[in-house]
Amino acid sequence: MANIPSEFIDQLLDRIDIIDVISPHVTLKKAGKDYQALCPFHTENTPSFTVSQNKQFYHCFGCGKHGSAIGFMMEFEGMDFVDCIETLAQSAGMSVPHQGNYQNNNQSKNLYEVVENANRYFVNGLEKSEFAQNYIKDRGISPDVSQIFQIGFAPDSWNGLLNRAQNNNQGELMKAGLIVQNDNGKIYDKFRGRIMFPIQDKRGRVIAFGGRAVLADQKPKYLNSPETPLFHKGKELYGLNIARKHSKVKSIIVVEGYMDVIALHQAGFKNSVATLGTATSQHHIVTLLRSYEEITFCFDGDKAGREAAWKALIISLPVYRDDKNIKFLFLPNEHDPDTYVKEFGHDAFQKQLDHSLSLSNFLLNKLKLNIDLNSIDGRAKFIDKSEAFVTELPKGQFRKLLIEEISHISKTRIDFNIKNQTPKIQSIDQWTPVRKTIAILLNKPGLVINLPENLRFKQLKLNGVNILAEIVDFCRLNPHISTAALLENFRQHNAYSHLSSLVTVSLNLNDEQLLLELNDIKNYFEKVIQKNMIGDLRNKQAQNGLTAAEKTQLVELLSNQIR
Ligand code: UTP
Ligand code: MN
Repeated sequence: MANIPSEFIDQLLDRIDIIDVISPHVTLKKAGKDYQALCPFHTENTPSFTVSQNKQFYHCFGCGKHGSAIGFMMEFEGMDFVDCIETLAQSAGMSVPHQGNYQNNNQSKNLYEVVENANRYFVNGLEKSEFAQNYIKDRGISPDVSQIFQIGFAPDSWNGLLNRAQNNNQGELMKAGLIVQNDNGKIYDKFRGRIMFPIQDKRGRVIAFGGRAVLADQKPKYLNSPETPLFHKGKELYGLNIARKHSKVKSIIVVEGYMDVIALHQAGFKNSVATLGTATSQHHIVTLLRSYEEITFCFDGDKAGREAAWKALIISLPVYRDDKNIKFLFLPNEHDPDTYVKEFGHDAFQKQLDHSLSLSNFLLNKLKLNIDLNSIDGRAKFIDKSEAFVTELPKGQFRKLLIEEISHISKTRIDFNIKNQTPKIQSIDQWTPVRKTIAILLNKPGLVINLPENLRFKQLKLNGVNILAEIVDFCRLNPHISTAALLENFRQHNAYSHLSSLVTVSLNLNDEQLLLELNDIKNYFEKVIQKNMIGDLRNKQAQNGLTAAEKTQLVELLSNQIR
């Protein structure tokens, strides 16, 4: 099998969802437990193509074609096996190992079990703690809803989970982000004395947790699992699996917090999900638009909430679709969905939903803000501001109508034809690798997939790596972002003017050359990181000595050293 270990293929299939692989190409309709569609492999008028999410398998009763997500891609895209694996792995954020340097393991499978086991410990913790139960009650959560969301409580103990999981090796618990080690080597539970909200993936498996502080002086308010092999923050949405299971509505409400989702669910709005303390990403939007007709962003009524909504709008533009709706609901100041629905009830929130702002109105209101449309100067400014946003939109009816509206408002016939700007050409040969990488990504964010996911930028110890790491993370979550929108997201950043000056320098290289350049840089980074890690370990060896694990790591690093 072309050198790809079968264990890896198992892990890959475990990580992806066949529905996500098929649904961009075939219109799937839910039919009982499964999905049905007109078969893409033969001509038919009644659907006999069936996809089972449980089995992660498709089958056509008409023509007999069947298989896994990989099989579907091979058949549909005409790709060969290895290409399919590469493509799917990339979309799942995994890198395909070569036979030989792959340790045979059932790592993910174990990891799911470890997390599930911890979840049982927390749920059990809630059952045993009157204090925690009272907190849940005081926040108005009913026992039924608490059970649906599997809310738990992490007892205020340093080693409750650690002791209980003695048979599991500690490495797995650590990998799952459930225990941590301090500088003195002491290992202890990460979540202590917190109400626990398990985060499930689309298939309903618990992959991470958010823990809310309930004790005096406890910080931060919410402690979340770190990124783990199972959990990628910008890709997951809290409550998505529950929303899918409990609501047939074709619209979805996106809120900020765990408690917002839970309160809305309890009030009858079971179609709610939350981003996980991070900004909305294009990945979120694209995923939601696959299964829902309409997204309503409902953020808190404060300044931060409005800014989050504006960012969500900017991110939405390049992936906007004429056949879908994106709306924005602004609650009164001082309210979040949780407090609002508790104070005013279901009907009031429904009214708010009915009056939410369309994407176009939100955009136009914002563009008109502080502009005097009665003056020529004002109208010119308005047109100028509009252009940057309109050109983000894909071609289609919505863009056309928006341009008409802008013409109408500004009393000017306009069409934003893509201008033929002549780019300034400047050689980047003399730039540092970090600067080059930033410039390349700013110009072509999609190229980020050519950088390894596990590159530890901090270890580079070079100037500018922090902003580079932020840009890389952002591009990974928003690969279809345009240069302009990418830059817009860093507007508040103190490197903003520096970044925008890099953008104005158009690179004197074509796509192929950019790739080659990036490849060279990648190799350079890897070499530097290796050298720095070896240096750090040797320093530590000289000062405090190394743990067994560190010794192994050092030996490994030295033997793999890229020359
Ligand atoms: P909020 O501060 O608005 O909290 O954060 P909340 O959702 O209203 O929570 P309650 O009602 O006080 O219990 C919104 C979301 O941002 C993330 C969490 O996902 C939270 O639900 N967050 C917030 C964190 O991840 N860490 C924090 O320290 C705070
Ligand atoms: Mn709240």
